[in-house]
Amino acid sequence: MKARKIVDNVYWMGAIDWNRRLFDSLVPLPDGTSYNAYLVKGSEKTALLDTVDPTMVDVLMEQLKDVSQLDYVVAHHAEQDHSGALPEVLQKYPNAKIVTNAKARDMLIDLLLLPEDRFQVVGDGEVLSLGDLHLQFILTPWVHWPETMSTYLPERKILFTCDFFGSHLATSDLYAVDQARVYEAAKLYYAEIMMPYAKQITKDLDKISGLDVDIIAPSHGPIYDNPQFIVDAYREWVHGAPKNYVVIPYVSMHGSVDKMVSHLVAALAERGVRVQQYELTVTDIGKLAMSLVDAATIIFATPTVLAGPHPLVAYAGVLTNALRPKAKFAGVIGSYGWSGRPIEQVSSLIPSLKVETFEPVLCKGHPRQEHFEALDRLADAIAAKHQELGLE
Ligand code: FEO
Repeated sequence: MKARKIVDNVYWMGAIDWNRRLFDSLVPLPDGTSYNAYLVKGSEKTALLDTVDPTMVDVLMEQLKDVSQLDYVVAHHAEQDHSGALPEVLQKYPNAKIVTNAKARDMLIDLLLLPEDRFQVVGDGEVLSLGDLHLQFILTPWVHWPETMSTYLPERKILFTCDFFGSHLATSDLYAVDQARVYEAAKLYYAEIMMPYAKQITKDLDKISGLDVDIIAPSHGPIYDNPQFIVDAYREWVHGAPKNYVVIPYVSMHGSVDKMVSHLVAALAERGVRVQQYELTVTDIGKLAMSLVDAATIIFATPTVLAGPHPLVAYAGVLTNALRPKAKFAGVIGSYGWSGRPIEQVSSLIPSLKVETFEPVLCKGHPRQEHFEALDRLADAIAAKHQELGLE
């Protein structure tokens, strides 16, 4: 892909990674991703905002082929998918300075072994003149690392936000024209890396709310020429009450847990509670994370394996604990061969969640009538709790 003009003297650069399927050796990328960089040409100075993943350095260097002068490279974030081409860019432009905040500078030195004298450190709110255009730097930390910042270009009313508002979406669309698809991808991205930092993201949202912004340009996925769309979505994900919605991560080895989950799902649906079950041997863990943005209740369902919960259920518990969703309730159901105690231990995997827990429903071997009745009572309890809170 060649550089693409956004507005006068501001260009999209970067690389679309159509085929990448895993990020950070953890996050599934069902729709690939992009690494967006931006070129801003002032009357006196030129700046590149971010670079690309090291695997796609060649794409960026080809786009920079006809850019003879580069004075600044703004590094919003030290993670390598945006900083990975800095060594090559610095080599091509020996007088260019990396402009970033002190925390990001230290991290970039640690991660990429960049020389300290190539940095120009800026503070929160500081403005860098490019002549007729100006870059104002705004610290927007914890989206998902502590050093991340954004840049505001007042003359064009563009806010460059790096991971903030990004989406892992490979598309030829420069702008978010397919809003439903972008909403889904952006929510997935929020769920996977930003959800644990909801409080800090509230502060970041407040911080940018006073800016006059026509365009939000993140470093993953398409650009927003209707910024309110993504800002409103973030406010809902961060502040919105959990929904009348239950998520059930589970594994079944010989069918007993499967029968329990099916019964509970039907019982919840009958009571007007939305529910999503995730069989963890086939689940895209990102989809589970996305459901956790909305879920009021999480019910883990597991058999006993090697004197503990199934490892995939334990993993779902660890992940849920790390993501710190806003769920209000949690519970465990399951089947065991000779001891139910290990199943109950699932609750101990989510100590960071401030949840009220339901009485576990456990059966020895195959579930019987008494267990199905206990699951009905669990569904009653969940529906009542959701109703008490007025969840929709
Ligand atoms: Fe897109 Fe945190 O890097």
